[in-house]
Formats: sequence, C-alpha cells, structure tokens
Amino acid sequence: MKPCIALTKGRIEKQFLEFFQSLNYDIEPLINKGRKLRVETDDFQFVFAKGVDVTTYVEHGIADLGIVGEDILAEFQPDVYNLLPLPFGNCRMALAVEEGKEWPERKRCIASKYTNITKAFFKEKGESVDIVKLEGSVELAPILGLADGIVDIVETGNTLKENGLIVKESFMEFSARCIANRSSLKIKRDLLAPVIEALQKGVAVK
Ligand code: PRP
Ligand code: MG
Repeated sequence: MKPCIALTKGRIEKQFLEFFQSLNYDIEPLINKGRKLRVETDDFQFVFAKGVDVTTYVEHGIADLGIVGEDILAEFQPDVYNLLPLPFGNCRMALAVEEGKEWPERKRCIASKYTNITKAFFKEKGESVDIVKLEGSVELAPILGLADGIVDIVETGNTLKENGLIVKESFMEFSARCIANRSSLKIKRDLLAPVIEALQKGVAVK
C-alpha cells in the first residue's frame, strides 16, 4: 500500500514538486500527468485538488497527507494534524484598497474569499462591516465599485500593483504546510515515516 498525498493544484503544486525533486523523489509522472487528477508514482498515490478540498480529503482519511496553504487552514480550521511548515508559499493576509482613494467614513464593504478571517479581523478592531464573498479575482471588487476594500493574500504584490491597489494593513503570515490525517499518523506510522522524515530534512536545509 502506498501513502496517498493530496496536493493543492496550481502555484503550490509547482513549488512542492520542485521541493520534492530536491529530496531526490522522481516527479516525472507528476509533471507529465496531463489532465489526470490521480497519479501513481513508484512510492505514492497523488491526488490533485483545490486547497480546501485537500483538507477535506485529509480530514476524511482518503489522503494520508496534504500539501496546502496555511491560509486555507486559518480560514476553514479543518480537523487535521498540522504536521510541518514547508519552505515555500510564503504570503501574508492583507486589507487592500484602491490607491489614492479615500477610506470612507461610513459602514464599509469588504470583498474576500476569506470571510471568516475577514470577520475576525474587523471584529478585533470593533468595526462592523458588510462582507461580500467572492471566489477569486477579488482585486476587481474595489475597482468595479462592489467593495471599499479586499482581504486577500499577497505573495509578490504583483496582482495588487497591476490592478491599482495598495496594502492598507497586513496582519497574518503564512507558508505552505504539510498536513496529516490524525489516525493515519498512528495507524500508518511506518508507512509514512520515510516521507515525513525526508520532508523534515528538506525543510531543515532550506
Ligand atoms: C492569489 C491571491 C491574490 C494573488 C496574490 O490569487 O488571491 O490575488 O494570488 O499573489 P501575488 O501577490 O503574487 O500577485 P490567485 O492567482 O490564486 O487567483 P484567484 O484569486 O482568482 O483564486
Ligand atoms: Mg487572486
């Protein structure tokens, strides 16, 4: 039986595969997978999904391990074991607004994919806001007049910059994480130990 690893598609997937290759694992079948969502290598079963779904597969024990952004863990607080930080996917959560536009002195409207984090952030400030949930391209909301600001992750800052937005306040720092199913960690300890040790070593040298 091979360990099952759920991998967040997109940026994290690319960075993880580079990292995994640096640990001397063969990533060739993962790079040339085409549109396949499940790929078996000599040592592992990999499944590819959106971040929040990665946590669901790990929580249900379908996947033993998951590679996911810490932002997803902060927003959805899944019942998984937060095993270790990975040396990529560094970003911060920020409140961003249109450059040069006044922050209105009325009840503000904030657009975000991260409604729980947004709620907690403004609650802490004692400010009541309206929150509009979007699924992506959140930077459009202030430009198009849907919201006064956004709460979103900033990695390079390019998306904000290229859309005329600036950070007003940043308030959480994240990296990619390796998460684990709680009972897999116990029941499949011998099966998972080699890869967990390899990941730990890789993190230590970065
Ligand atoms: C993410 C995030 C920001 C951007 C940050 O969006 O929501 O928009 O990346 O990265 P940057 O600071 O390096 O530009 P993503 O590209 O994942 O798309 P989505 O928001 O449409 O899901
Ligand atoms: Mg985005």
